[in-house]
Amino acid sequence: MKILVLNGPNLNLLGTREPEIYGIETLADIEAEMKACADRLGGGISIEFRQTNSEAELITWIGATRGEYDGIIINPAALTHTSLGVCDALKAVADKVPAVEVHLSNTHRREEIRHKSLTAPACVGQIMGFQGFGYSLALRAIVHHLKG
Ligand code: DQA
Repeated sequence: MKILVLNGPNLNLLGTREPEIYGIETLADIEAEMKACADRLGGGISIEFRQTNSEAELITWIGATRGEYDGIIINPAALTHTSLGVCDALKAVADKVPAVEVHLSNTHRREEIRHKSLTAPACVGQIMGFQGFGYSLALRAIVHHLKG
């Protein structure tokens, strides 16, 4: 089972970026945790982990998943609240490559502009508010979904 983990703008700054909101883990820490979680789950789950600050690149990566990956875990970061393009890309592949949305913070406890996710309707479900640990929860969720 091949899972693509996608991270949007500014998530490369995790560790030093507003740690009271996002935690002190770096993206590399989260990647290592997810890979350990995949090993514990067994069954040959492979994880590819990427980050970009570019909306266009994120859309291109999502669009190229068909036939290459079984599922997507995505933290679109600020693009969550603005990008119909990311939503449309997720919808375009959802029949074969379902996605789980993850957020480090509980966006509903924050500014109103962060309450709406344009991308969540294109996903199977959403996990938020558990900082880096949420990524491993999202992995368990997508594996559960794919195994049906
Ligand atoms: C975020 C929440 C977004 O509102 C914000 O723009 C981010 C990170 C999160 O993981 O909590 O960059 O997606």
